[in-house]
Amino acid sequence: MLLGAIDQGTSSSRFLLFDADNGDLLASHQIEVRQLFPHPGWVEMCPKEIYETVLECIKKVSEKMVEQKVGLDRLKCVGIANQRETTVVWDRETGEPLHNAIVWLDTRTSALADEAIQKTESKSKEHFKAKTGLPIHPYFSVLKLQWLLRNVPEVEEARKKGTLMFGTVDCWLLWKLCGIHATDVTNASRTMMFDLHKRKWSSELANFFEIPMEILPKIRSSAEVYGEFLGGPLKGIPISGCLGDQQAAMVGHGCLQKGDTKNTYGTGTFMLSNIGSQPLISKNGLLTTVGYQFGSDCVIYALEGSGSIGGNVIRFLRDNFGFIKDSSEVEALCRSITSTEGVIFVPAFTGLYTPYWDPTARGTICGLTQIANRAHITLAALRAVCFQSAEMLEAVEQDMEDTKITAIKVDGGMTSNILFNELQADIMGRRIDTPSVHEVSGWGAAMAAGIGIGLMKPENLSEKQAVRSYSPRISDSERHHELHRWKDAVKRACGWAID
Ligand code: G3P
Repeated sequence: MLLGAIDQGTSSSRFLLFDADNGDLLASHQIEVRQLFPHPGWVEMCPKEIYETVLECIKKVSEKMVEQKVGLDRLKCVGIANQRETTVVWDRETGEPLHNAIVWLDTRTSALADEAIQKTESKSKEHFKAKTGLPIHPYFSVLKLQWLLRNVPEVEEARKKGTLMFGTVDCWLLWKLCGIHATDVTNASRTMMFDLHKRKWSSELANFFEIPMEILPKIRSSAEVYGEFLGGPLKGIPISGCLGDQQAAMVGHGCLQKGDTKNTYGTGTFMLSNIGSQPLISKNGLLTTVGYQFGSDCVIYALEGSGSIGGNVIRFLRDNFGFIKDSSEVEALCRSITSTEGVIFVPAFTGLYTPYWDPTARGTICGLTQIANRAHITLAALRAVCFQSAEMLEAVEQDMEDTKITAIKVDGGMTSNILFNELQADIMGRRIDTPSVHEVSGWGAAMAAGIGIGLMKPENLSEKQAVRSYSPRISDSERHHELHRWKDAVKRACGWAID
């Protein structure tokens, strides 16, 4: 039997087919998607391109299956793993988007965030944290939606006509593929309109942010039948799993016990630690989020370190500076030198998230001398991603007082670089485990779909064995010194984009 997964990320769309018994990836197709930067700090994507690249990936994989003489009747269900927070608005009658999607990285709502903070009684960005697990910050969907309602006349007109629909990318895809307006709890928990404890939309939050509740999708669990493909090669096959991509990776890695921790290096970097069935509100700059909900009573929460820095830095060095033609060249380039010679790169193009939550931070390179070249800056970029992870880990261990994280399961494009995995182990001072499954988010979504149709049981999910582990090679004092230098460089990046 086969399980399918749509993995729609910030950098690419993918469709994947797995063997239900062992998670072997049998076929896949991936298409890079464009990110648009209409102003500094703004990041948009075309909702139609998101949908059409997903369709094209499905078509290509279906063709491969025909070539391999594997009948698509073996495919039992499909799950969705998606980039989270990215906000889409469309018209129910025409089915047309009313604006480009505003991507999670976008900082245009910094002023709206300040306005919202000032409107709270406590005048603190943490005002709704106990309820939502999130600080008031441009990252989350609600401010993007507020911006669209205030600034795009077509959105306001559709609202008046009663045809406006809002959704994150999962919701947009479910609408296009199955004709339903729904989202799952993990995606809802990233909007800042979701009550983490009741697992429902909060009318208090919707009112506070002036969001009409009728435009919100219905919230469902992460594993149940959402609907069926309305057309195309998968017509009639159920979509029965849906999770934000980071939560899907948590499931895909088998982070099913309290303290199990994964870190995914996609466009950004996201470290999630399983905290069990009760939300724990962070005191150290982490988010609290729904990890997954399988059925009505199996709910697991996670603490999350979110990082705006990840594979986007490599894409930047490729597209903006031309330092490499392809990400596969990064490892050899970085191995051509033995140190950054004091260069520290803080690639905070759209601000910094955990633990700083500063939307005004901007990219900064410290320590350039006349010998610095593209290799030093590229190595400094890899190390930056690791320092960001080390700060997340510090926060997780401070919040989970009784739990020491001994190993971190990692995935994402950057982890095919062995040097990068070695640097993670050094800079975090923990064992780094890379998994046997390559497409971890997709596998998590596929398993959720299997649970959604009753093919699999949540209690039978198992931890994935590491295929290769990396241990730290530097001393604690060396590590502390390097982290201290990084934090010093971060201070210089913060607060930059204030006119
Ligand atoms: O919260 C944003 C996150 O879901 C994006 O994931 O894989 O596109 O970096 P990715």
